[in-house]
Amino acid sequence: MMSTTGAGVLCRQVGLWKNASVAISRCASTQTAIGVGGHHAPKPSSTGTTMGPASDKTDQTSKEKTKAPKIKQFSVYRWDPDRPGDKPRMQTYEVDLNTCGPMVLDALIKIKNEVDPTLTFRRSCREGICGSCAMNIGGGNTLACIARIDPDTSKQSKIYPLPHMYVVKDLVPDLSNFYVQYASIQPYLKRKDETVGKEQLLQTIDDRSRLDGLYECILCACCSTACPSYWWHGDKYLGPAVLMQAYRWIIDSRDEATAERLDALRDPFSVYRCHTIMSCARTCPKHLNPGRAIGEIKKLLAGLATKDTTSHETLKNKAMNAVKQ
Ligand code: SF4
Ligand code: SF4
Ligand code: FES
Repeated sequence: MMSTTGAGVLCRQVGLWKNASVAISRCASTQTAIGVGGHHAPKPSSTGTTMGPASDKTDQTSKEKTKAPKIKQFSVYRWDPDRPGDKPRMQTYEVDLNTCGPMVLDALIKIKNEVDPTLTFRRSCREGICGSCAMNIGGGNTLACIARIDPDTSKQSKIYPLPHMYVVKDLVPDLSNFYVQYASIQPYLKRKDETVGKEQLLQTIDDRSRLDGLYECILCACCSTACPSYWWHGDKYLGPAVLMQAYRWIIDSRDEATAERLDALRDPFSVYRCHTIMSCARTCPKHLNPGRAIGEIKKLLAGLATKDTTSHETLKNKAMNAVKQ
């Protein structure tokens, strides 16, 4: 994962998002507009041109030049811990959509490359796989690389870091607690024997399909940071992303630590702070449903459901018998 945060920023002071929102409203009136349209002529885009022969490229560039600019304003949360006394504020940038790619991440990269190299955000894959560009865009948590820019130029696009998290710098949230919580559910296969890594572990098609809708999670944290229970109890409540991964390992037919995994979640906070508000499912950019997975964990904890999968040993014996016959 690549971060655009400068080296050394991670270990400096951090600002609390909850308090930051107060500071933002104070600073909004004094915001500075740094625009490519208002104060400087826009430079040619490095992302808005097409691949192809040089003449095609020249045609494209001249077409872009003749088109009337389509200026969109992006209002972006800024806070730099390396500037003593810096307060969180919103900064407005103007981008010509004619020379910019279609996604919000394209606009952020264009701003960083052409207007303000100090703007800091995370990104890596730019195709919704790594989860690093998760941020709050237009009031919802999502991935900047798959969030289309609203073409309505009369409206500003507002971009904040993931809500209710400590901020490392600008749009970079501190995910340390999130990763500690993820590690706590031991997200790897646990078996009592020595089979892991030594032989193929068999699964029925049904048992494999139980992992669908769970394994696709990219741990972007959009859901956890959209969950009101996680906002208030993030230190003790594991939150939807981590709980969905806990369920992914609980329900895996090849895993033999089911009882131990469930026991680790039996306290009043780890799971039971989920009140089925379902903001998690609404916001997930991968269209997953962590709230449902949490419901399944609760059923297992209450004894209303059982894991009920076919063990690797049973399948192995069946396969051996079939070979003998
Ligand atoms: S469940 Fe969805 S929103 Fe939550 S971490 Fe996984 S991919 Fe992101
Ligand atoms: S369903 Fe549970 S985890 Fe999802 S947002 Fe609501 S309280 Fe949070
Ligand atoms: S850059 Fe990887 S998910 Fe957006």
